[in-house]
Amino acid sequence: METLTGPRMPCPEDTVARLLLLCLVLLQVTGASGTTDIVVAYNLTWKSTNFKTILEWEPKPINHVYTVQISPRLGNWKSKCFYTTDTECDLTDEIVSDVNQTYLARVFSYPADATDYTGEPQFRNSPEFTPYLETKLGRPKIQSHEQVGTKLNVTVQDARTLVRMDGTFLTLREVFGKDLSYTLYYWKASSTGKKTAKTNTNEFLVDVDKEESYCFNVQAVIPSRKINQKSPESPIVCTSQDKGVSREMLFIIGIVVLVVIVLTVILAVSLYKCRKRRGGRGGKESTPLNIA
Ligand SMILES: *[C@@H]1O[C@H](CO)[C@@H](O)[C@H](O)[C@H]1NC(C)=O
Ligand SMILES: *[C@@H]1O[C@H](CO)[C@@H](O)[C@H](O)[C@H]1NC(C)=O
Ligand SMILES: *[C@@H]1O[C@H](CO)[C@@H](O)[C@H](O)[C@H]1NC(C)=O
Repeated sequence: METLTGPRMPCPEDTVARLLLLCLVLLQVTGASGTTDIVVAYNLTWKSTNFKTILEWEPKPINHVYTVQISPRLGNWKSKCFYTTDTECDLTDEIVSDVNQTYLARVFSYPADATDYTGEPQFRNSPEFTPYLETKLGRPKIQSHEQVGTKLNVTVQDARTLVRMDGTFLTLREVFGKDLSYTLYYWKASSTGKKTAKTNTNEFLVDVDKEESYCFNVQAVIPSRKINQKSPESPIVCTSQDKGVSREMLFIIGIVVLVVIVLTVILAVSLYKCRKRRGGRGGKESTPLNIA
């Protein structure tokens, strides 16, 4: 990184101290105008998931602002996020027009009062970025599932991306075609032994045991990739197969048992009180008989 210093004034050796002083003052003025203490952005990082693409960098600006430029590999720079005090810039709109292109971005630093700035701005280049090969795969969602007999049918939701073609947004499947596959991890709810299945559609149809509940989740995969090959795993979903007594049935039985217990207790208590009362009355009745 080269720093720009202000125009250096020639200070001939034979000049008097006054001239030297003038030189110093001039240097200080150019320094104060901000050319020497502008921080050049560093740690430029692409954050991209399902083609939503943001360039991030450091540091938080103090006395300066940033402007971002992006271009396909060879030239044609386009400016974005003009004079921003943010440390990120959304470049999605620029990359979705051609996701197979390799892009380069750069972040320029300007003094905060950039209007009267005429110097050569400093910048740093980002790493190269090829959306099709590098954008991370978002966490997939299970759209629907069905377990009938010995078959479990799981459908993965086809996420919409911001990639546009003829005015409509394409889904992940439409962008990646057969390059995209999904992995299904499934296991009996009563055990932990996992099985896997793969598909290069968004649907799974796997054999399962009848009347067993299963749990499963899915993961998007692009096997041909070197990096960011796999998405995070989707949330886990479970089927509830009725094995003898269903959960609702258990609930009803529980309530019935509870009611029976409560009734029994009430009955027992009232019977006891009844008998006690009758016993007491019997005693009173017998007393006069004894006297007689
Ligand atoms: C860039 O970021 C990484 C972590 O994200 C950090 O370890 C590193 O120190 C940063 N580089 C600079 C120059 O600060
Ligand atoms: C991008 O490249 C892949 C593989 O090279 C290809 O299958 C796909 O059709 C290309 N997509 C576009 C939009 O050009
Ligand atoms: C699986 O479920 C999906 C969505 O409900 C349905 O469109 C598809 O036909 C089912 N597949 C099979 C083989 O039953």
